[in-house]
Amino acid sequence: MTDKAKLELNGKPIEVPVIVGTEDEHAIDISELRAKTGFITLDDGYGNTGSCKSAITYIDGEKGILRYRGIPIEQLAAKSSFLETAWLVIWGELPTRAQLDGFTALVLENARLHENLLRHFESFPANGHPMAELSAMINTVSCYELDIMNGEDAKNIESAAARLLGKVCTIAAASYNAAQGKPIIQPDPALGYADNFLQMMFSQGRKDYRVDHEVAAALDLIFVLHADHEQNCSTSTVRMVASSGANLFASCAAGVCALWGPLHGGANAAVLDQLESIHKSGVTVKDYIARAKDKTSGVRLMGFGHRVYKNYDPRAKIIKATADRILDKLHINDPLLDIARELEAAALADSYFKDRSLYPNVDFYSGIIMRAIGIPVNMFTVMFAIGRMPGWIAHWKELHDQKSRIYRPRQVYIGKPIRDYVAMESR
Ligand code: SDX
Repeated sequence: MTDKAKLELNGKPIEVPVIVGTEDEHAIDISELRAKTGFITLDDGYGNTGSCKSAITYIDGEKGILRYRGIPIEQLAAKSSFLETAWLVIWGELPTRAQLDGFTALVLENARLHENLLRHFESFPANGHPMAELSAMINTVSCYELDIMNGEDAKNIESAAARLLGKVCTIAAASYNAAQGKPIIQPDPALGYADNFLQMMFSQGRKDYRVDHEVAAALDLIFVLHADHEQNCSTSTVRMVASSGANLFASCAAGVCALWGPLHGGANAAVLDQLESIHKSGVTVKDYIARAKDKTSGVRLMGFGHRVYKNYDPRAKIIKATADRILDKLHINDPLLDIARELEAAALADSYFKDRSLYPNVDFYSGIIMRAIGIPVNMFTVMFAIGRMPGWIAHWKELHDQKSRIYRPRQVYIGKPIRDYVAMESR
Protein backbone atom coordinates (compact mmCIF):
# COMPACT_ATOMS: atom_id res chain seq x y z
CA MET A 1 0.00 0.00 0.00
CA THR A 2 1.40 3.46 -0.77
CA ASP A 3 0.20 6.94 0.09
CA LYS A 4 1.76 10.34 -0.44
CA ALA A 5 3.70 12.77 1.79
CA LYS A 6 3.77 16.48 1.04
CA LEU A 7 7.00 18.45 1.49
CA GLU A 8 7.68 22.12 0.83
CA LEU A 9 11.28 22.96 -0.14
CA ASN A 10 12.32 26.52 -1.03
CA GLY A 11 8.65 27.40 -1.13
CA LYS A 12 8.00 24.69 -3.71
CA PRO A 13 5.57 21.94 -2.66
CA ILE A 14 6.42 18.38 -3.72
CA GLU A 15 4.81 15.01 -3.10
CA VAL A 16 6.77 11.85 -2.33
CA PRO A 17 5.39 8.31 -2.03
CA VAL A 18 4.82 6.70 1.40
CA ILE A 19 5.61 2.97 1.64
CA VAL A 20 3.75 0.87 4.24
CA GLY A 21 5.29 -2.39 5.48
CA THR A 22 3.69 -5.67 6.57
CA GLU A 23 3.42 -4.54 10.19
CA ASP A 24 2.19 -1.06 9.24
CA GLU A 25 5.61 0.60 9.39
CA HIS A 26 5.52 3.79 7.34
CA ALA A 27 8.42 5.11 5.23
CA ILE A 28 8.81 8.17 3.04
CA ASP A 29 10.35 7.01 -0.23
CA ILE A 30 12.95 9.68 -1.11
CA SER A 31 14.44 7.82 -4.10
CA GLU A 32 13.53 10.74 -6.40
CA LEU A 33 14.09 13.58 -3.91
CA ARG A 34 17.43 14.83 -5.26
CA ALA A 35 16.34 14.57 -8.89
CA LYS A 36 13.16 16.53 -8.13
CA THR A 37 14.50 19.10 -5.62
CA GLY A 38 18.32 19.00 -5.48
CA PHE A 39 17.98 18.19 -1.76
CA ILE A 40 19.37 15.10 -0.05
CA THR A 41 18.60 13.96 3.51
CA LEU A 42 21.06 13.64 6.39
CA ASP A 43 20.68 11.05 9.19
CA ASP A 44 23.71 10.49 11.45
CA GLY A 45 23.95 6.76 12.22
CA TYR A 46 20.97 5.99 9.97
CA GLY A 47 18.64 5.96 13.00
CA ASN A 48 15.73 7.13 10.86
CA THR A 49 16.72 5.72 7.46
CA GLY A 50 15.63 2.48 5.84
CA SER A 51 18.34 1.16 3.49
CA CYS A 52 16.13 -1.45 1.82
CA LYS A 53 12.91 -3.42 1.92
CA SER A 54 13.48 -6.83 3.50
CA ALA A 55 11.31 -9.88 4.18
CA ILE A 56 13.75 -11.68 6.48
CA THR A 57 13.37 -10.32 10.03
CA TYR A 58 10.87 -8.10 11.79
CA ILE A 59 11.71 -6.22 15.00
CA ASP A 60 9.38 -4.03 17.03
CA GLY A 61 11.79 -2.31 19.42
CA GLU A 62 9.08 -0.67 21.48
CA LYS A 63 7.31 -3.97 22.13
CA GLY A 64 10.42 -6.17 22.26
CA ILE A 65 9.27 -8.29 19.31
CA LEU A 66 11.66 -10.32 17.11
CA ARG A 67 10.46 -12.66 14.32
CA TYR A 68 12.44 -14.55 11.65
CA ARG A 69 10.29 -14.84 8.49
CA GLY A 70 7.23 -14.09 10.66
CA ILE A 71 7.91 -16.77 13.30
CA PRO A 72 8.41 -15.37 16.86
CA ILE A 73 11.90 -15.91 18.29
CA GLU A 74 10.37 -17.46 21.42
CA GLN A 75 8.84 -20.29 19.32
CA LEU A 76 12.04 -20.90 17.35
CA ALA A 77 14.07 -20.91 20.58
CA ALA A 78 11.72 -23.49 22.09
CA LYS A 79 11.16 -25.72 19.06
CA SER A 80 13.77 -25.23 16.34
CA SER A 81 17.46 -25.95 15.81
CA PHE A 82 20.19 -23.75 14.37
CA LEU A 83 20.35 -25.39 10.93
CA GLU A 84 16.55 -25.47 10.66
CA THR A 85 16.46 -21.78 11.61
CA ALA A 86 19.28 -21.11 9.13
CA TRP A 87 17.20 -22.70 6.34
CA LEU A 88 14.14 -20.62 7.37
CA VAL A 89 16.15 -17.37 7.47
CA ILE A 90 17.90 -18.01 4.13
CA TRP A 91 15.07 -19.53 2.05
CA GLY A 92 12.01 -18.10 3.82
CA GLU A 93 10.15 -21.26 4.86
CA LEU A 94 10.70 -23.99 7.44
CA PRO A 95 12.39 -26.93 5.66
CA THR A 96 10.77 -30.30 5.04
CA ARG A 97 12.40 -33.26 6.75
CA ALA A 98 14.18 -34.15 3.49
CA GLN A 99 15.41 -30.57 3.00
CA LEU A 100 16.69 -30.32 6.58
CA ASP A 101 18.43 -33.70 6.51
CA GLY A 102 19.99 -32.90 3.12
CA PHE A 103 21.16 -29.45 4.23
CA THR A 104 22.52 -30.75 7.54
CA ALA A 105 24.53 -33.40 5.71
CA LEU A 106 25.76 -30.82 3.17
CA VAL A 107 26.91 -28.45 5.96
CA LEU A 108 28.75 -31.10 7.97
CA GLU A 109 30.29 -32.76 4.86
CA ASN A 110 31.61 -29.35 3.76
CA ALA A 111 32.94 -28.32 7.14
CA ARG A 112 36.36 -29.86 6.43
CA LEU A 113 39.20 -27.47 5.57
CA HIS A 114 41.61 -28.21 2.69
CA GLU A 115 44.81 -29.56 4.27
CA ASN A 116 46.82 -26.67 2.76
CA LEU A 117 44.67 -24.25 4.75
CA LEU A 118 45.70 -25.75 8.08
CA ARG A 119 49.21 -24.37 7.62
CA HIS A 120 47.84 -20.80 7.69
CA PHE A 121 47.03 -21.20 11.37
CA GLU A 122 50.72 -21.82 12.13
CA SER A 123 51.47 -18.30 10.87
CA PHE A 124 49.15 -16.59 13.38
CA PRO A 125 50.76 -15.58 16.70
CA ALA A 126 49.37 -17.34 19.80
CA ASN A 127 47.82 -14.06 20.92
CA GLY A 128 46.33 -13.23 17.52
CA HIS A 129 42.70 -12.15 17.85
CA PRO A 130 40.29 -14.90 16.71
CA MET A 131 38.09 -12.34 14.91
CA ALA A 132 41.04 -11.23 12.78
CA GLU A 133 41.78 -14.87 12.00
CA LEU A 134 38.13 -15.66 11.24
CA SER A 135 37.81 -12.78 8.79
CA ALA A 136 41.15 -13.60 7.14
CA MET A 137 40.42 -17.31 6.89
CA ILE A 138 36.91 -16.87 5.44
CA ASN A 139 38.48 -15.02 2.52
CA THR A 140 41.37 -17.50 2.33
CA VAL A 141 38.99 -20.47 2.30
CA SER A 142 37.19 -18.90 -0.67
CA CYS A 143 40.36 -19.40 -2.76
CA TYR A 144 39.54 -23.12 -2.62
CA GLU A 145 35.83 -22.67 -3.40
CA LEU A 146 36.09 -21.01 -6.80
CA ASP A 147 33.51 -23.38 -8.27
CA ILE A 148 30.72 -21.73 -6.28
CA MET A 149 32.05 -18.22 -5.95
CA ASN A 150 30.09 -16.30 -8.50
CA GLY A 151 27.10 -18.39 -9.37
CA GLU A 152 23.74 -17.19 -8.11
CA ASP A 153 21.56 -20.18 -9.04
CA ALA A 154 19.70 -21.90 -6.22
CA LYS A 155 21.91 -25.02 -6.04
CA ASN A 156 24.98 -22.82 -6.06
CA ILE A 157 23.71 -20.68 -3.17
CA GLU A 158 22.75 -23.74 -1.13
CA SER A 159 26.23 -25.12 -1.67
CA ALA A 160 27.92 -21.80 -0.84
CA ALA A 161 25.76 -21.40 2.29
CA ALA A 162 26.54 -24.94 3.44
CA ARG A 163 30.28 -24.52 2.90
CA LEU A 164 30.36 -21.23 4.78
CA LEU A 165 28.22 -22.45 7.70
CA GLY A 166 30.31 -25.61 7.96
CA LYS A 167 33.73 -24.09 7.62
CA VAL A 168 33.33 -21.16 10.04
CA CYS A 169 33.13 -23.66 12.92
CA THR A 170 36.24 -25.49 11.77
CA ILE A 171 38.11 -22.19 11.33
CA ALA A 172 37.09 -21.08 14.84
CA ALA A 173 38.13 -24.35 16.47
CA ALA A 174 41.37 -24.47 14.45
CA SER A 175 42.22 -20.94 15.57
CA TYR A 176 41.60 -21.94 19.21
CA ASN A 177 43.73 -25.11 19.05
CA ALA A 178 46.56 -23.56 16.99
CA ALA A 179 46.83 -20.72 19.54
CA GLN A 180 47.59 -23.36 22.17
CA GLY A 181 50.06 -25.19 19.93
CA LYS A 182 47.69 -28.14 19.66
CA PRO A 183 46.95 -30.07 16.45
CA ILE A 184 43.85 -29.00 14.53
CA ILE A 185 40.90 -31.40 14.60
CA GLN A 186 38.87 -31.74 11.43
CA PRO A 187 35.06 -32.07 11.69
CA ASP A 188 33.13 -35.29 12.24
CA PRO A 189 30.16 -35.23 9.81
CA ALA A 190 28.36 -37.82 11.95
CA LEU A 191 27.87 -35.27 14.74
CA GLY A 192 25.31 -32.46 15.07
CA TYR A 193 26.36 -28.90 14.27
CA ALA A 194 27.04 -27.66 17.81
CA ASP A 195 28.25 -31.09 18.98
CA ASN A 196 30.80 -31.15 16.16
CA PHE A 197 32.00 -27.66 17.10
CA LEU A 198 32.47 -28.62 20.76
CA GLN A 199 34.22 -31.84 19.71
CA MET A 200 36.67 -29.89 17.51
CA MET A 201 37.23 -27.32 20.25
CA PHE A 202 37.69 -29.46 23.35
CA SER A 203 38.37 -33.12 22.53
CA GLN A 204 42.04 -32.53 21.67
CA GLY A 205 44.17 -34.98 23.67
CA ARG A 206 41.19 -36.07 25.80
CA LYS A 207 40.34 -39.72 24.96
CA ASP A 208 37.48 -39.62 27.45
CA TYR A 209 35.95 -36.48 25.96
CA ARG A 210 32.23 -36.82 25.26
CA VAL A 211 30.09 -33.90 24.10
CA ASP A 212 27.50 -32.99 26.76
CA HIS A 213 24.34 -32.84 24.64
CA GLU A 214 22.63 -30.37 26.99
CA VAL A 215 25.61 -28.04 26.60
CA ALA A 216 25.54 -28.54 22.82
CA ALA A 217 21.80 -27.74 22.86
CA ALA A 218 22.48 -24.53 24.81
CA LEU A 219 25.13 -23.51 22.25
CA ASP A 220 22.75 -24.37 19.40
CA LEU A 221 20.16 -22.13 21.06
CA ILE A 222 22.64 -19.25 21.30
CA PHE A 223 23.28 -19.65 17.56
CA VAL A 224 19.48 -19.59 16.88
CA LEU A 225 19.11 -16.37 18.89
CA HIS A 226 21.88 -14.67 16.91
CA ALA A 227 20.81 -15.86 13.44
CA ASP A 228 19.56 -12.49 12.17
CA HIS A 229 18.61 -9.04 13.36
CA GLU A 230 17.60 -6.99 10.29
CA GLN A 231 19.82 -4.02 9.37
CA ASN A 232 22.31 -4.06 12.27
CA CYS A 233 25.78 -2.66 11.66
CA SER A 234 27.41 -5.90 10.45
CA THR A 235 24.47 -7.02 8.30
CA SER A 236 24.32 -3.59 6.68
CA THR A 237 28.06 -3.99 6.03
CA VAL A 238 27.44 -7.35 4.34
CA ARG A 239 24.76 -5.75 2.16
CA MET A 240 27.03 -2.80 1.35
CA VAL A 241 29.84 -5.11 0.21
CA ALA A 242 27.44 -7.50 -1.58
CA SER A 243 25.94 -4.57 -3.51
CA SER A 244 29.25 -4.10 -5.35
CA GLY A 245 28.92 -7.67 -6.67
CA ALA A 246 31.44 -9.10 -4.19
CA ASN A 247 31.08 -12.83 -3.53
CA LEU A 248 29.38 -14.30 -0.46
CA PHE A 249 32.62 -15.14 1.39
CA ALA A 250 34.10 -11.63 0.89
CA SER A 251 30.82 -10.02 2.02
CA CYS A 252 30.62 -12.15 5.18
CA ALA A 253 34.31 -11.60 5.96
CA ALA A 254 33.52 -7.87 5.95
CA GLY A 255 30.57 -8.55 8.26
CA VAL A 256 32.97 -10.22 10.72
CA CYS A 257 35.05 -7.03 10.85
CA ALA A 258 32.03 -4.83 11.55
CA LEU A 259 30.73 -7.23 14.21
CA TRP A 260 34.09 -7.08 16.04
CA GLY A 261 33.51 -3.57 17.40
CA PRO A 262 32.74 -3.29 21.16
CA LEU A 263 29.55 -1.33 20.46
CA HIS A 264 28.24 -4.24 18.40
CA GLY A 265 29.17 -7.92 18.58
CA GLY A 266 32.27 -7.20 20.65
CA ALA A 267 29.97 -6.24 23.53
CA ASN A 268 29.56 -9.85 24.74
CA ALA A 269 33.29 -9.99 25.51
CA ALA A 270 33.21 -6.45 26.93
CA VAL A 271 30.42 -7.53 29.31
CA LEU A 272 32.61 -10.34 30.72
CA ASP A 273 35.57 -7.96 31.07
CA GLN A 274 33.22 -5.56 32.87
CA LEU A 275 31.93 -8.27 35.26
CA GLU A 276 35.45 -9.55 35.93
CA SER A 277 36.75 -6.04 36.65
CA ILE A 278 33.92 -5.45 39.12
CA HIS A 279 34.59 -8.84 40.74
CA LYS A 280 38.35 -8.32 40.98
CA SER A 281 38.31 -4.65 42.00
CA GLY A 282 35.58 -5.11 44.59
CA VAL A 283 33.90 -1.93 43.32
CA THR A 284 30.26 -2.02 44.34
CA VAL A 285 27.51 -2.40 41.77
CA LYS A 286 26.17 0.94 42.97
CA ASP A 287 29.49 2.65 42.24
CA TYR A 288 29.79 0.98 38.84
CA ILE A 289 26.30 2.08 37.86
CA ALA A 290 27.23 5.62 38.94
CA ARG A 291 30.24 5.48 36.62
CA ALA A 292 28.12 4.21 33.71
CA LYS A 293 25.82 7.19 34.18
CA ASP A 294 28.71 9.66 34.32
CA LYS A 295 29.49 10.75 30.76
CA THR A 296 33.01 11.83 31.77
CA SER A 297 33.92 8.36 33.06
CA GLY A 298 34.21 6.79 29.59
CA VAL A 299 32.36 3.80 31.08
CA ARG A 300 29.18 2.36 29.58
CA LEU A 301 27.14 -0.48 31.03
CA MET A 302 28.11 -3.01 28.37
CA GLY A 303 25.32 -5.36 27.31
CA PHE A 304 22.78 -2.61 28.04
CA GLY A 305 20.98 -0.38 25.56
CA HIS A 306 20.07 -0.86 21.94
CA ARG A 307 19.41 1.34 18.92
CA VAL A 308 16.12 -0.43 18.20
CA TYR A 309 14.97 -2.16 21.41
CA LYS A 310 13.52 0.37 23.81
CA ASN A 311 12.25 -2.58 25.81
CA TYR A 312 13.82 -5.79 27.10
CA ASP A 313 15.62 -7.58 24.21
CA PRO A 314 13.56 -10.80 23.83
CA ARG A 315 16.79 -12.72 23.20
CA ALA A 316 18.24 -11.55 26.53
CA LYS A 317 15.25 -13.02 28.40
CA ILE A 318 15.78 -16.43 26.79
CA ILE A 319 19.55 -16.38 27.28
CA LYS A 320 19.18 -15.38 30.94
CA ALA A 321 16.94 -18.39 31.59
CA THR A 322 19.39 -20.65 29.72
CA ALA A 323 22.31 -19.32 31.77
CA ASP A 324 20.49 -20.29 34.98
CA ARG A 325 19.76 -23.76 33.59
CA ILE A 326 23.25 -24.50 32.21
CA LEU A 327 25.09 -23.30 35.31
CA ASP A 328 22.83 -25.47 37.46
CA LYS A 329 23.40 -28.44 35.12
CA LEU A 330 27.18 -27.95 35.23
CA HIS A 331 27.08 -27.28 38.99
CA ILE A 332 28.81 -23.96 38.42
CA ASN A 333 28.29 -21.19 40.92
CA ASP A 334 29.64 -18.23 38.94
CA PRO A 335 29.99 -15.02 40.98
CA LEU A 336 29.92 -13.09 37.70
CA LEU A 337 26.33 -14.23 37.12
CA ASP A 338 25.38 -12.87 40.54
CA ILE A 339 27.07 -9.56 39.68
CA ALA A 340 25.23 -9.48 36.32
CA ARG A 341 21.90 -10.00 38.06
CA GLU A 342 22.70 -7.23 40.59
CA LEU A 343 23.74 -4.85 37.80
CA GLU A 344 20.54 -5.55 35.88
CA ALA A 345 18.34 -5.02 38.94
CA ALA A 346 20.14 -1.79 39.87
CA ALA A 347 20.02 -0.38 36.34
CA LEU A 348 16.36 -1.26 35.76
CA ALA A 349 15.49 0.55 38.99
CA ASP A 350 17.51 3.65 38.04
CA SER A 351 15.84 6.59 36.32
CA TYR A 352 18.93 7.25 34.12
CA PHE A 353 18.42 3.89 32.40
CA LYS A 354 14.63 3.92 32.56
CA ASP A 355 14.40 7.42 31.06
CA ARG A 356 16.61 6.35 28.17
CA SER A 357 14.87 2.97 27.71
CA LEU A 358 18.13 1.12 28.35
CA TYR A 359 17.55 -2.60 28.94
CA PRO A 360 19.75 -5.71 28.79
CA ASN A 361 20.47 -6.74 25.20
CA VAL A 362 21.51 -10.06 23.68
CA ASP A 363 25.10 -9.61 24.88
CA PHE A 364 24.41 -9.11 28.58
CA TYR A 365 24.08 -12.79 29.59
CA SER A 366 25.42 -14.72 26.58
CA GLY A 367 29.01 -14.53 27.80
CA ILE A 368 28.06 -16.19 31.11
CA ILE A 369 26.94 -19.31 29.22
CA MET A 370 29.93 -19.32 26.86
CA ARG A 371 32.30 -18.97 29.82
CA ALA A 372 30.55 -21.90 31.55
CA ILE A 373 31.00 -23.99 28.38
CA GLY A 374 34.73 -23.14 28.35
CA ILE A 375 34.78 -20.76 25.38
CA PRO A 376 37.56 -18.19 25.97
CA VAL A 377 36.40 -14.55 26.18
CA ASN A 378 38.33 -13.54 23.06
CA MET A 379 36.20 -16.03 21.10
CA PHE A 380 32.80 -14.78 22.31
CA THR A 381 32.36 -12.55 19.26
CA VAL A 382 33.43 -15.43 17.01
CA MET A 383 30.46 -17.36 18.44
CA PHE A 384 28.23 -14.37 17.63
CA ALA A 385 29.58 -14.42 14.06
CA ILE A 386 28.88 -18.15 13.66
CA GLY A 387 25.31 -17.57 14.84
CA ARG A 388 24.86 -14.53 12.56
CA MET A 389 26.13 -16.29 9.42
CA PRO A 390 22.64 -17.40 8.23
CA GLY A 391 21.40 -13.80 8.44
CA TRP A 392 24.36 -12.51 6.48
CA ILE A 393 23.85 -15.21 3.84
CA ALA A 394 20.11 -14.42 3.68
CA HIS A 395 20.71 -10.70 3.22
CA TRP A 396 23.39 -11.32 0.58
CA LYS A 397 20.87 -13.54 -1.28
CA GLU A 398 17.95 -11.12 -0.83
CA LEU A 399 19.98 -8.20 -2.18
CA HIS A 400 20.80 -10.25 -5.30
CA ASP A 401 17.22 -11.49 -5.66
CA GLN A 402 16.08 -7.84 -5.48
CA LYS A 403 18.69 -6.87 -8.10
CA SER A 404 19.69 -3.97 -5.81
CA ARG A 405 21.81 -1.10 -7.08
CA ILE A 406 25.30 -0.59 -5.64
CA TYR A 407 25.07 1.11 -2.23
CA ARG A 408 26.51 4.59 -2.58
CA PRO A 409 25.22 7.12 0.03
CA ARG A 410 25.58 10.86 -0.53
CA GLN A 411 27.08 13.35 1.98
CA VAL A 412 26.94 17.00 3.02
CA TYR A 413 30.41 18.49 2.36
CA ILE A 414 31.62 20.74 5.20
CA GLY A 415 35.28 21.06 4.16
CA LYS A 416 37.21 24.04 2.72
CA PRO A 417 35.83 26.05 -0.22
CA ILE A 418 37.89 26.04 -3.42
CA ARG A 419 41.51 27.21 -2.96
CA ASP A 420 44.84 27.00 -4.87
CA TYR A 421 47.79 24.69 -4.34
CA VAL A 422 50.55 26.38 -2.29
CA ALA A 423 54.18 25.68 -3.19
CA MET A 424 56.25 24.16 -0.35
CA GLU A 425 58.47 27.26 0.06
CA SER A 426 55.36 29.39 0.61
CA ARG A 427 53.73 27.21 3.33
C1 SDX B 1 24.30 -5.60 19.39
O1 SDX B 1 21.72 -3.23 15.91
C2 SDX B 1 21.56 -4.48 16.33
O2 SDX B 1 20.57 -5.12 16.06
C3 SDX B 1 22.73 -5.02 17.13
C4 SDX B 1 22.53 -6.39 17.79
C5 SDX B 1 22.40 -7.50 16.75
O3 SDX B 1 21.80 -8.55 17.06
O4 SDX B 1 23.02 -7.35 15.65
O5 SDX B 1 21.38 -6.40 18.63
C6 SDX B 1 23.77 -6.76 18.63
O6 SDX B 1 25.18 -4.92 18.90
C7 SDX B 1 23.69 -5.25 20.73
C8 SDX B 1 24.31 -3.97 21.37
C9 SDX B 1 25.65 -4.36 22.02
N1 SDX B 1 26.37 -3.13 22.47
C10 SDX B 1 26.46 -2.82 23.78
O7 SDX B 1 25.90 -3.46 24.69
C11 SDX B 1 27.35 -1.61 24.06
C12 SDX B 1 26.68 -0.72 25.13
N2 SDX B 1 25.51 -0.11 24.50
C13 SDX B 1 25.65 1.17 23.90
O8 SDX B 1 26.90 1.66 23.59
C14 SDX B 1 24.48 1.66 23.08
O9 SDX B 1 23.36 1.41 23.81
C15 SDX B 1 24.32 1.11 21.67
C16 SDX B 1 25.57 1.25 20.88
C17 SDX B 1 23.92 -0.33 21.71
C18 SDX B 1 23.20 1.91 20.99
O10 SDX B 1 23.66 3.20 20.87
P1 SDX B 1 22.76 4.38 20.28
O11 SDX B 1 21.44 3.87 19.79
O12 SDX B 1 23.61 5.17 19.34
O13 SDX B 1 22.41 5.19 21.55
P2 SDX B 1 23.25 6.41 22.10
O14 SDX B 1 24.70 6.05 22.17
O15 SDX B 1 22.86 7.62 21.32
O16 SDX B 1 22.70 6.54 23.61
C19 SDX B 1 21.51 7.26 23.92
C20 SDX B 1 21.70 7.71 25.36
C21 SDX B 1 22.99 8.48 25.58
O17 SDX B 1 22.81 9.31 26.72
P3 SDX B 1 22.30 10.87 26.48
O18 SDX B 1 23.25 11.49 25.47
O19 SDX B 1 20.87 10.76 25.98
O20 SDX B 1 22.40 11.50 27.86
O21 SDX B 1 21.79 6.55 26.23
C22 SDX B 1 23.09 6.53 26.82
C23 SDX B 1 23.97 7.41 25.99
O22 SDX B 1 25.04 7.93 26.76
N3 SDX B 1 23.53 5.10 26.75
C24 SDX B 1 24.18 4.47 27.72
C25 SDX B 1 24.32 3.15 27.27
N4 SDX B 1 23.77 3.03 26.06
C26 SDX B 1 23.28 4.26 25.73
N5 SDX B 1 24.66 4.90 28.92
C27 SDX B 1 25.29 3.97 29.68
N6 SDX B 1 25.46 2.66 29.32
C28 SDX B 1 24.99 2.24 28.11
N7 SDX B 1 25.16 0.97 27.75
